[in-house]
Amino acid sequence: MSESWDDAHLQRAAKDHLWMHFTRHSTYDSSDVPVIAKGEGAYLYDTAGKRYLDGLAGLFVVQVGHGREELAEAAAKQARELAFMPLWSYAHPPAVQLAERVASYAPGDLNRVFFTTGGGEAVESAWKLAKQYFKLTGKPTKHKVISRNIAYHGTPQGALSITGIPDMKAPFEPLVPSTFRVPNTNIYRAPEHGDDPEAFGRWAADRIAEAIEFEGPDTVAAVFLEPVQNAGGCFPPPPGYFQRVREICDEYDVLLVSDEVICAFGRLGEMFGAVRYGYQPDIITCAKGLTSGYSPLGAMIASDRLMEPFLKGHESFLHGYTFGGHPVSTAVAMANLDIFEREGINENVRANEDGFRSTLEKLLDLDIVGDVRGDGYFYGIELVKDKATKETFNEEESERLLRGFLSKALYDAGLYCRADDRGDPVVQLAPPLICDQEHFDEMESILRSVITEGQNLL
Ligand SMILES: Cc1ncc(COP(=O)(O)O)c(C=O)c1O
Repeated sequence: MSESWDDAHLQRAAKDHLWMHFTRHSTYDSSDVPVIAKGEGAYLYDTAGKRYLDGLAGLFVVQVGHGREELAEAAAKQARELAFMPLWSYAHPPAVQLAERVASYAPGDLNRVFFTTGGGEAVESAWKLAKQYFKLTGKPTKHKVISRNIAYHGTPQGALSITGIPDMKAPFEPLVPSTFRVPNTNIYRAPEHGDDPEAFGRWAADRIAEAIEFEGPDTVAAVFLEPVQNAGGCFPPPPGYFQRVREICDEYDVLLVSDEVICAFGRLGEMFGAVRYGYQPDIITCAKGLTSGYSPLGAMIASDRLMEPFLKGHESFLHGYTFGGHPVSTAVAMANLDIFEREGINENVRANEDGFRSTLEKLLDLDIVGDVRGDGYFYGIELVKDKATKETFNEEESERLLRGFLSKALYDAGLYCRADDRGDPVVQLAPPLICDQEHFDEMESILRSVITEGQNLL
């Protein structure tokens, strides 16, 4: 770093010029902007050299960990060879190779890979594909989307419309019309069948059939679901849920879109969440872990059936992005997937996930830890005011505990993770997939001391 970019200069410039995402900038009127300068393995380092355990893999992204020389090399090599070429009627080798490789990992006949630059664009692409597909196949009125309460699907206006978090949508209304919400699979707060996961799963899936009937099957194009819903704090599917959703989608000719922007590429110990839970989507949307974040990339993976009408005559999918499937990003993704195979990244998750779960479950002895839930390396810890009644915090308490205390206190204690209240208050954990018991113990110990301090503030 040049001399003029000392810490003071970075702080001033960050406050004067950098508009951070989803950020309350007033927080930094009275404190420094956290500036992370380096990553190594499962750890991050700020500009002063202080170390933090990366409990969130950046943002559910850095699967193989930080500081991988070979991924930096793959990017440099590709930039030297061919820095840019779009996928608009032309191809380049890394995009072709990656498309074949991703198709080989994807379940069933999900063989057609449309690259984007990130997850929101993949979601946007999936909805547009669903609409155009039905127009081309004689069902032009099918255009609506069903999604779940509190689920996050991205910020472009179509993806935001599919998102089920009202507060995040309100500033931008009116959004793209025609999306509808059904219950998610939060069994901790299940309105019915909370003691019987199978019955709860059946109940939740049947709400999708009900919504399709209510809107009119001739008007519904797709259902967007994450394998494990992130927002709200990690809701895995109850047994049989996705199998029942598949039946419903088949019955009404509605496309099942598995939004795996977080859940793909090892987060749940498989290349895709749909594989882990044994269901067959019509489309998978993914991003994040595909490159482990060493370069931006997303993808929509569609079944052969969905591409079929676009293979004839004058038809084309009227959609694209300048940087979708960028040569550097696709080359990096290939090198990232080489690491997955060589080092057995998915196997590491499968071998250690029980240890991760049981380590986090130790926190259930704290007064305000109500629930620990998730799968693979993807967990949410729900904080409650009263464990017996599951009463949650009110707005003011939530503000004081989560925003006012927990996020910063965890960070100051050396754990980068996220306290989130887009639903009931949760601490989210999704570390790099190279982590092992030592990292889980470090997380548990920091969480224990900070949450204990937090409960004393209430
Ligand atoms: C399930 C899901 N879909 C879509 C997105 C949007 O992805 P991006 O931020 O890459 O646009 C996210 C981001 O976290 C996500 O979790």
